[in-house]
Amino acid sequence: MKRLAIFVSGTGSLLEAMIKGGLEISFVLADRDCRGYHLADPTGIPAMLLQRASFGPKFNRKGYTLEVVKFLRYFNIDLVAMAGFMTILDPVIFDEGYEGKILNTHPSLLPFFKGDHAVRDTLAAGAGVAGCTIHVATEELDAGPILAQASVPVLPGDTKDTLHERIKVVERELYPKTILEYMKTLK
Ligand code: GRF
Repeated sequence: MKRLAIFVSGTGSLLEAMIKGGLEISFVLADRDCRGYHLADPTGIPAMLLQRASFGPKFNRKGYTLEVVKFLRYFNIDLVAMAGFMTILDPVIFDEGYEGKILNTHPSLLPFFKGDHAVRDTLAAGAGVAGCTIHVATEELDAGPILAQASVPVLPGDTKDTLHERIKVVERELYPKTILEYMKTLK
């Protein structure tokens, strides 16, 4: 069985669904103190809070990423799934052996609405459908090979929160399935 790490920064409802669904997780990493990080506590899954020294321009992205790599090596991780992880890692991670070994889920139907405000931008554009995309992470943000997508309707009166929650409902089912399928393709 391949060893999976989940990276979180927020509510962690995707991680929660993975834990409840019985997905085997070998390591959880958070970049800030968040609910997602604390979800690991009662499960016995090793969790690391690798806080960023700064959120400003002085952030040492490469240094931070190399710290992340140390933990991935320590826990013998074969695949990383970012689940609401809000730090953009430096491309050095791909040179360190993790190319093709990092997945991301994004709350839009890529290639539409890339970036941090995908749900807000979907609403602002007046789109009739929204959704999520699970893809392989590459140097270019929200642009790697797409593994799976699922759509949901945008309903009258939707706010960013109601629409995002509708998206997350399908994400919680699609992401674990896609991770397991992708794992089978890893050598
Ligand atoms: C998901 O919608 C994911 O696509 C986005 O962040 C959200 C994570 O939600 N990148 P949660 O923290 O797991 O509840």
